[in-house]
Amino acid sequence: MALRTLVTIKARSIIGFRQQLRGLQTFTLPDLPYDYGALEPAISGDIMQLHHQKHHQTYVTNYNKALEQLDDAINKGDASAVVKLQSAVKFNGGGHINHSIFWKNLAPVHEGGGEPPKGSLGWAIDTNFGSLEALIQKMNAEGAALQGSGWVWLGLDKELKHLVIETTANQDPLVTKGPSLVPLLGIDVWEHAYYLQYKNVRPDYLKNIWKVMNWKYASEVYQKECPCLEAR
Ligand SMILES: [Fe+2]
Repeated sequence: MALRTLVTIKARSIIGFRQQLRGLQTFTLPDLPYDYGALEPAISGDIMQLHHQKHHQTYVTNYNKALEQLDDAINKGDASAVVKLQSAVKFNGGGHINHSIFWKNLAPVHEGGGEPPKGSLGWAIDTNFGSLEALIQKMNAEGAALQGSGWVWLGLDKELKHLVIETTANQDPLVTKGPSLVPLLGIDVWEHAYYLQYKNVRPDYLKNIWKVMNWKYASEVYQKECPCLEAR
């Protein structure tokens, strides 16, 4: 193992140990529910490995650091430092939340990836958007038009009891667009999610990602969260 990797692991374990001593939650990188190459050819194994092991890990590491610094600032009564840390908490915490959802939003084809939604979510999509094809077209158009880096979401508005399509900038989670919004599907449109394979052609990445979309996961979240179903 390279010295740099060992030093990084040691530094992370020290942060985790200190946070445990202080009763702080330490976040860790979740395992992928499939192999890195399992989404090929839609998304290459190289992209998945880099995206998970490097990008998501960095959000987790920096989120833990920011929480530790925030705890210090609160204990010292340093109001200025507390406010200053909010952007690091939002960016890195959002990155951890969003990517943890993203991995579950995808599935290998032999495990049902790309199979259209059935049941209540299928009906809701037809009611809200006309058809699944219309929903995909709208999400792809919004994802392609999003300037810079961010996410395009299919969400459930629990208060209004309908589905919504939203975009968020940077690593903002969907809840920043409204407290009653629950993410069903999130598509990462940061360049790190597609550039190695698709170069600058984001629309091709958006077209192909639906071939490995895990609608089963989205349906489970919808059935659990939708108050419209409780009333039936
Ligand atoms: Fe990402």
